[in-house]
Amino acid sequence: MTSPVVDVIRAEMGRSGAITFARYMELALAHPVHGYYAGGPARTTRAGDFLTAPELHPLFGAALASQVEEAWARLGRPDPFVLREDGAGSGTLGLAIAEALAAGRAGGAADRSGIAAAVRYLPRELSRERLAECAERFAAAGLAGSLVASAGGEAPDPVTPFTGVVLANEYLDALPIHLVERRDGALREVFVAIDPNGAFIERLGDPSTPELAARLEDRGVDLAEGQRAEICLALAPWADSVAADLGRGLVLAIDYGREAADLYDRRRMAGTLMTYRGHAADPSPEAPYCDVGERDITAHVDLTTVRALLAARGFAHLGTTSQAELLVGCGLQDLLERERGRVRDLQAAFELRAAAQRLLDPQRLGGFAALLAGRGIDPEPPLRGLSFRLERPGDPRIPRRHIADGPVE
Ligand SMILES: C[S@@+](CC[C@H](N)C(=O)[O-])C[C@H]1O[C@@H](n2cnc3c(N)ncnc32)[C@H](O)[C@@H]1O
Repeated sequence: MTSPVVDVIRAEMGRSGAITFARYMELALAHPVHGYYAGGPARTTRAGDFLTAPELHPLFGAALASQVEEAWARLGRPDPFVLREDGAGSGTLGLAIAEALAAGRAGGAADRSGIAAAVRYLPRELSRERLAECAERFAAAGLAGSLVASAGGEAPDPVTPFTGVVLANEYLDALPIHLVERRDGALREVFVAIDPNGAFIERLGDPSTPELAARLEDRGVDLAEGQRAEICLALAPWADSVAADLGRGLVLAIDYGREAADLYDRRRMAGTLMTYRGHAADPSPEAPYCDVGERDITAHVDLTTVRALLAARGFAHLGTTSQAELLVGCGLQDLLERERGRVRDLQAAFELRAAAQRLLDPQRLGGFAALLAGRGIDPEPPLRGLSFRLERPGDPRIPRRHIADGPVE
């Protein structure tokens, strides 16, 4: 069955003609009623289309809780201490962090420190269904008092500006991207139109905004003839909202991404656009136009731009590392040992081991980038999450999302 979002997109094209790929992606994923992320089943689970680190195991949240706790201590133990999570889904990560802080499992005597009483989780999520689930889950865990009800949309949140942490796990890659190509020496943009049979087709046109060329120029990018690339202009409004909300504190963005020089390198002639459905990744050019509204569309994050946008808004770059290094720095090994001592059956023991391995695998979740930036927070000594680094040879491969649970070697 075709998703109703297809009719929504066709209707918009009927009114205004071809639309940019960014607008197409925005409608397909984030239309408030029919978009892929708006309702229906959770997409980020084993039963969904791909598995994110927080959905894989609460170990991930428990490790990040240690970073949250350290940031809180460094910021003078404020109460309240707000943990805003962008693209929070049903709050799996927020809940794992809140539970770890309440139980004192965040790498120290967290429950004695007072952070559990001070922390206020503020989920920002476009799906009202997921937000409702989040509230139910916090209530069921006896942590309703730690949750700030978010308006979920563009409305200002109730506790802003705040001191705290802004967290974004696999969120920035979901923001709409403009697609551009260099043809006959000129920058062209990909628009989406409908053919006489009602199918979505691509058309090249002049860029819809000079911001596209300006972004490439800012990054010093010179696309090769025929090279296709993604540009996420939505990063700027995101950085604006972080700067408006977070008076003092830490930004932690975890995602698959690369520095601009690498992302736009001429090795990547087809860009990084990817779709996911039913734990299968599909990079083919036609995939974004198949199962519209039932398939995730995503692209790798330009870390250089994220850093530059945050810096322009007063956030110093504290460091960029891999998820594996971040987690080890945050005490994943100790947490693992502690959890091992609690495990009572073989299945749970296996799941724990498999989860730790997958969280650290450099070809998968462990290879995601973790970018830390801060305002009004002492950068020295380096934060826990940046304290563990490995020497690694340059690797041009970009890790993909975690899909399907194959055997663990
Ligand atoms: C890939 S999922 C990640 C979910 C969660 N952070 C995790 O790690 O499991 C992206 C999430 O961002 C949400 N999202 C996408 N665009 C959004 C927007 N513009 N505003 C708020 N949430 C958005 C989606 O609904 C979805 O829950």
